[in-house]
Amino acid sequence: MSTHADANALLAEIEGIGVDHDRGGYSRPVFSPAELELRRWFESHATARGLNVETDGNGILWAWWDVPDAGDRRGAIVTGSHLDSVPGGGNFDGPLGVASALAAVDVLRDRGIEPVRPLAVAVFPEEEGSRFGIACLGSRLLAGAVDPDRVRALTDESGRSFADAASDAGFDPSIIGADADRLAGIAAFVELHVEQGRGLIDLDQPVALAGAIIAHGRWHVRIEGRGDHAGATRMADRQDPVVVAAETIRSLRVHTLVVDDARGTVGRVKVTPGGTNVIASSVDLWMDVRHHSEEAVRRIVSEVTAGTERAADAEGCVVTVTEQSFSPTVSFDPALRDRMQSVLPHAPVLDTGAGHDAGVLAAVIPTGMLFVRNPTGASHTPAETAGPEDITAGVDALADVLTHLLTR
Ligand code: GLV
Ligand code: MN
Ligand code: MN
Repeated sequence: MSTHADANALLAEIEGIGVDHDRGGYSRPVFSPAELELRRWFESHATARGLNVETDGNGILWAWWDVPDAGDRRGAIVTGSHLDSVPGGGNFDGPLGVASALAAVDVLRDRGIEPVRPLAVAVFPEEEGSRFGIACLGSRLLAGAVDPDRVRALTDESGRSFADAASDAGFDPSIIGADADRLAGIAAFVELHVEQGRGLIDLDQPVALAGAIIAHGRWHVRIEGRGDHAGATRMADRQDPVVVAAETIRSLRVHTLVVDDARGTVGRVKVTPGGTNVIASSVDLWMDVRHHSEEAVRRIVSEVTAGTERAADAEGCVVTVTEQSFSPTVSFDPALRDRMQSVLPHAPVLDTGAGHDAGVLAAVIPTGMLFVRNPTGASHTPAETAGPEDITAGVDALADVLTHLLTR
């Protein structure tokens, strides 16, 4: 008889952590009390399963199922995901992959599987980039895809630097950066994730394999104007950055709509100082742009930027556009996908518009993904969900793939 807590029960355990009473849903930014509590929750479950937990220099948690004769953790199979969230997000984006990985370990043990190579369950910090702006920050650091000096200097909304926030949370920011040796020991990474669209609803299937991740990037647009009085300042005398911001947002919609299947979003706008009767002195906004073609993403951003600069000139404002991150189109390892497909012959292959640590790691190690149906098709909102039976189907699919990879 099975003795494991299933992934549904594991997810239920963390339902109370990081609840955001103002926004709704969950806010679990990296190094926050909620994210640190989730890390401890993971560590205690991993330890209870006899896994050897370590935290690497980039704050990534690795829970190892070591194999006596497999040498020094070489040729390892890694699974896992992230525990941080967007502001006001759901309980599945990230945690589903972590809970499913722990549950899959139980399934492997129940099946009496004897791995011939080590397995690690990994938890990657700041996947969402919600606090410091760069998505998949932990995996980017690991892969050497971002400069550690730049990361140490990143600041959050309150102006606190990554270095200080990491230190406060008990991490040593002086040792972040590429870890080629660790990567060289990994034979494959498989991330299970809740689907963030409607692909599996339309196909009436519980689980899919990932085909590709579309290219995406983030840009910070800063518009500086001149603060003044809403009643006493004539319209002709204004240098209002909010007017330029409005033009930017409208132009992003217009330029995205004319490119088939492109995605353009402004989901965060900060008006300073932010008073009803105050002409703003500055506006910061962030653009998120995605498409299968990297070139199309860059073209949309350059057209919007040109329009923003024209609007700023007309209004007497100054604009600075800074690229925060750019992720090229990812095609997951075809040989690994073939192996996964041989184990899961009925699983369809879906591309995704969402970014993942697996997408970053795909540039340096063989990587694959599994998606679990999301009955609302919505994500980055409390409406994101997954059904209990589909969650179990996802764990079984992950366990099947791991069984295959760990026993050869
Ligand atoms: C993360 O989920 C992203 O796609 O931005
Ligand atoms: Mn995610
Ligand atoms: Mn996400």
